[in-house]
Amino acid sequence: MTTPPPMSLLAELTHRCPLQCPYCSNPLRLDTRAAELDTATWCRVMDEAAIMGVLQVHFSGGEPMARSDLPDLVRHAAGVGLYSNLITSGVLLNPASLAALADAGLDHIQLSFQDALPDPGDRVANMTGAHAKKLEAARLIVAEGIPLTLNFVVHRQNAERVPAMLLLAEQLGARRVEIAHTQYYGWGLLNRDALLPDRAQLALTEQAVAEARTRLAGRMTIDFVTPDYYAEEPKPCMGGWGQRFMNVSPTGRVLPCHAAESIPNVEFPSVAETSLADIWENAPLFTMFRGTDWMPEPCRSCSAQTQDWGGCRCQALALAGKAGAADPVCHKAPDHGIVERAIAARPETPPAFRYRRYGSA
Ligand code: FES
Repeated sequence: MTTPPPMSLLAELTHRCPLQCPYCSNPLRLDTRAAELDTATWCRVMDEAAIMGVLQVHFSGGEPMARSDLPDLVRHAAGVGLYSNLITSGVLLNPASLAALADAGLDHIQLSFQDALPDPGDRVANMTGAHAKKLEAARLIVAEGIPLTLNFVVHRQNAERVPAMLLLAEQLGARRVEIAHTQYYGWGLLNRDALLPDRAQLALTEQAVAEARTRLAGRMTIDFVTPDYYAEEPKPCMGGWGQRFMNVSPTGRVLPCHAAESIPNVEFPSVAETSLADIWENAPLFTMFRGTDWMPEPCRSCSAQTQDWGGCRCQALALAGKAGAADPVCHKAPDHGIVERAIAARPETPPAFRYRRYGSA
C-alpha cells in the first residue's frame, strides 16, 4: 500500500436513534434496520482494518447501543488490537449493558449532552427525561472506571451555558470535554437559522473555554470546535479527505466522511464487494479529493493548503453547489459571500426546530 493507512475507522453501526436532535450529522436519507450489516460482517471489517494498520475503532450511529451485538463487536475489536471508543447518547445505558461492554474490553466512552440543564437539553433531543438518563450514564461510566469524554454541541440557544457545561463535565469526573459549535450541513443546515449564534455569543464561548483551560490545566482536557462560518480559514475537515479516517455506514458503504453520500456522480464502494484496503487505496471516491492536485484557485496557490486541505468538501457542495469548490467559509473563497449573506440574514428570533426523526426523511 503506498497511501499511509487511516488512523481511525468510524463504524456507524445503525442510524436508529431515540433522540431527534435538529443538528443530526447523519445523512438526509437514513438506512433501515433491515439493511444493516450483520455481526460477522462487522467483525470482518475490523479484521481488515487491523491488518491495514488502523489503530482505533469508533462505534457510532445513530445510537450504537441500539445494536444488541455491541459487546460482541467490542470484544472482537479488542481481540484484533483496535482501541475502541463508544460514541453514545447514553439514554440506553444501564448497569447491565455497561458491565457487558466493560467486560468485553471497551477502552473509552464519549457521551453526548444537549445542554447543561434538563429542560433545554430535553427540548433539543425532543425526549423527556433524556438529560437525567445522561447524568446517570456518566456516573455509571466513571464508577466503572472507563475513561469518559463529554461532548456538548453549542448553538445560539445554549451558548450562554457553556460555563455551566464545563462545570458539569468537571463535576461528573470527565477526563476530556468537547465544546463543539454546530456544523451546518445536512440537518444542521436545514436548522441553521435556529442554531447559528452571533459573534457576541461566539466570543462568550471562547472566553469561557479559555478561562476553564487555565483553571483546569492538568486535570481536564478541553477541545473547542468553532463555528466555521465565523472563522477566517476553513477547518481541515476529517484531517484531509481520504487521509486519516474511514467511515463505514450501517449498510456497508465505505466513505471518507459521514456526509460523503451527498457527493453526486460517484460510486460508493461497499464492504460487500471490495476490501477496505483496496477501497482506501483505489476507490475514486477516496482519491478524488485526496492531497492537493484536485484543488482549484485560490487553494492551489495558498500557503495553508496542506494545513486546511481546502476545508470541507460536503460544505462546499451544500453551499456552492460543487464539491470541488473552495470551501465558502474561507475568506479567500470566491463563494464566501454565501456565508456572509447567511450570517446577515440570521433572524432575531430563532424559528422552531425541525426535529430529526428516524423513519422520516
Ligand atoms: Fe464531508 Fe467535511 S463533512 S468533507
